[in-house]
Formats: sequence, structure tokens, C-alpha cells
Amino acid sequence: MTKICVIGLGYVGLPILLNLSNKYKCIGYDISLNRIESLKKGRDIFKEFSKKELLKKSILYSNNLNHAANCNIFIITVPTPIYQNKKPDLSHLKDVCEKLSKKIKKKDILIFESTVYPGITNNFCIPIIEKFSKLKEGRDFFVGYSPERVNPGDKKHNLKKINKIFAYPYKFRKKEILSIYKLICKKLIITENIKEAEAAKVIENIQRDVNIGLINEIYLVCKKLNLDFKEVINLASTKWNFLKFKPGLVGGHCLPVDPYYFAHISKINNYKTKITLAGRQTNDFMEKNILIEIKNILKVHDKKNNKKVLLCGLSYKENVSDHRNSLALNIFNKLKKIKKNISGYDPMINDNLSNKLNLIISEKEFSNFDIYITLIRHNIIKKKINKLSKNKLIFNILSNI
Ligand SMILES: NC(=O)c1ccc[n+]([C@@H]2O[C@H](COP(=O)([O-])OP(=O)(O)OC[C@H]3O[C@@H](n4cnc5c(N)ncnc54)[C@H](O)[C@@H]3O)[C@@H](O)[C@H]2O)c1
Repeated sequence: MTKICVIGLGYVGLPILLNLSNKYKCIGYDISLNRIESLKKGRDIFKEFSKKELLKKSILYSNNLNHAANCNIFIITVPTPIYQNKKPDLSHLKDVCEKLSKKIKKKDILIFESTVYPGITNNFCIPIIEKFSKLKEGRDFFVGYSPERVNPGDKKHNLKKINKIFAYPYKFRKKEILSIYKLICKKLIITENIKEAEAAKVIENIQRDVNIGLINEIYLVCKKLNLDFKEVINLASTKWNFLKFKPGLVGGHCLPVDPYYFAHISKINNYKTKITLAGRQTNDFMEKNILIEIKNILKVHDKKNNKKVLLCGLSYKENVSDHRNSLALNIFNKLKKIKKNISGYDPMINDNLSNKLNLIISEKEFSNFDIYITLIRHNIIKKKINKLSKNKLIFNILSNI
């Protein structure tokens, strides 16, 4: 009988687990006891799933991999961040591979989903598992790779509506594993080459990061030249092959991270990338630029530095709770150092975290500020701002472009 274990129940792992549990018995394993405890209570800290969706009889949440002893398919969706020096941090993958090597049996299938540079699955993950399990991949157990394209907060491109690359070089249980994955997404793009699938995923994000970097740069130059950026883009967009990107604050676990993975493996192979990281500097610089823009607003409208200011929307992008690498949050933390009467507000970020980040504003307090500055405009923030009385000063940063 097929029994599936999803390892890492974050933005990527949880939706996969919930989809598969409609048909299969599943174990949801996560190293974080807090995460497991809240899921067991039917609470999703990311506020994406309801209690009913989380509390299904077919799912066992656990932070003990022993509970997955009789699983025969393992889907791994742990984080792949970077260290401060921008080098890939593979410690989560290493940990999972070591633990799995003590649990897997002959004929088990492992599918990795984390974003990595080409070669990690074959040259990093599989050797760790083989070393400790004494099993041979391709003979005793089988490994595939299916990169994730989930776009949190995006209702149009959710898992069920997108296609997904699936790399699996074997015939063994292929039909079965494909039918399982077909439950997850609209269409599978099937390949046998894991390294090419790994490369495809990472370059999707690099292309986006570089393009946003370019449009951010164009935005900054238009400002210097006193040109109406929106009009410039509208005019350029009349050409059939002009790509319309929007300037903004780039954060999260993907774009600020993945280019460094690709640049790293390229360097190891004696090629120093010249364009891969080109978006990074400009995209990060947007934080400083917007900080200056806000300081200028305050110079004009809060001359005596005594007005109460509320900075709204601090996660990394609209309608998501994820605040990893959020430039909006960095801006808030910097403003707090220079202004006493400034508060942060983000109703998407869960209460515990909001407490830690100092973002606690009660519903009543929300209307008690003099100046409102919106950075990341979640739908809920737009609604609340629209309801404010006319005497409030409201500044929507990067809103009219
Ligand atoms: N978030 C996205 O939008 C997105 C999109 C596409 C791809 N990805 C990729 O998917 C992967 C996962 O990203 P995410 O956003 O879901 O991360 P996340 O941080 O939201 O979730 C990861 C989960 O894994 C758990 N975990 C960490 N180490 C573990 C370990 N050793 N054993 C078991 N569990 C462990 C964490 O506690 C966490 O709950 C990353 O490689 C990321 O680049 C993310």
C-alpha cells in the first residue's frame, strides 16, 4: 500500500501534503515541534489553510521520523537558504538525508523538491543516503526531483492550476509516482534528467530577479531625470516584445537566494557569472531608495517629528505572511531607530510573530495615526486604508506604477 511522507511542512510542503492526503495516507514530518503542534491543532501560521483542511483523518503530523517507518514514498521540501556570506546553506538537506538514510527501505522512492543548483540531488543528497543506508540508488531505492513553482498569495497560479516539472530517470514504479504527482498539479512536464530540472528551476527565478532588477534601475533613473516612469513604460509597452515588469521590493525565500546558488556552482566550474547576480544589487538598493523616499515624506509632513506614523504591510509581498528577507521589514526597523512615534502593521503576519517583530496594533488603534505609509499593499490593508477618515495623510509607496 502506498504511504507518503512529506518532509518539511512550510509554504511548499503543506499544500502538497494536503493535496495528497485526499487519496493517500500521509505523514507530515517537520523538525519544528511548534509547527507540528500548531498543525495538530488545525492552526496554519501562514493563514493559508482552514482548520477543516488541516485536520484530516488521513494525515498524521509528527516531528519524529520513526512514524514514517512504513512510508514508501518520501517528498522532501526543506529550506535551502544562503549563509551570510551568500554561499548555499545545504544543512537542512544534509540533515534530512542523514535521517532518511536510517529509515528508508528497499524499493522506496524519494522525490526532492527544494530549489538547488544543478547536481545537488545526484552529487550531494544521494551519496549521503547511500553512505549511511548501505543501499544503492537506482537498484535498492529510487530518487526523483520535482521543483516547486508555488507562488504564495497568488490565487490564479496555485498548485492545482500550474504545470510542474517532474524528473525521474527510472521505470521502477514510474506510473504510480506519476499518477500521485498528477494529483498535485494541472500538468506534469516529464523529463529523465534531474540536473536539467534542477537548473530549470533555479534559472526561472534568476530570470525574474534580473528582469525586476532592470526595471527597478529604469525606475530609479527615470526619477533622477524627472521622467514619468509609468508613461515611459506604457510607451515602451506598445512594442510587441517589450516585457512589462513592475519595480518593487524583492524579498522572500526565492529571488534573493537562488541566483547565489547558480553563481556558486558556476564559479566551482571556473566561470564567474556576470549577469546572474546583476539584479541583486539594484533590488537590494530599493530598500535604501524607499527609505530615503519615506524620510523625505516625513521631513515635509512631520517637521516637528511628533506625528504618529503607521507603516503598513511588512511581509515580503502582497497577500502573503512570509516575512523572510522582507525589505519592507528592514525599512521599518531602520525607521524605528530614527523616529519614536512610528509603528508597524501587518495583519497577514501571525500574532506570535507580530509580537516578536513589535507589530502589535489593535483594530481600535489602527485609526489613531496621523500619517499612514503603505509599503506592501495586502487586500486587507487596502480596505482598511480606504475606510480611514479624510483628514489622514496617506502615502502609498510605489503604488501608481
Ligand atoms: N516559498 C516559496 O514560494 C517557494 C517556491 C518555490 C520553491 N521553494 C523552495 O522550496 C523549499 C522549501 O521552501 P519553503 O518556502 O516551503 O520553506 P519553509 O521555511 O516555509 O518551510 C520549510 C519547513 O521545513 C522544516 N525543516 C527545516 N529543516 C528541516 C529538517 N532538517 N527536517 C525536517 N523539516 C525541516 C521547517 O521547520 C519548515 O517548516 C526551498 O528550497 C525553497 O527555495 C519555495
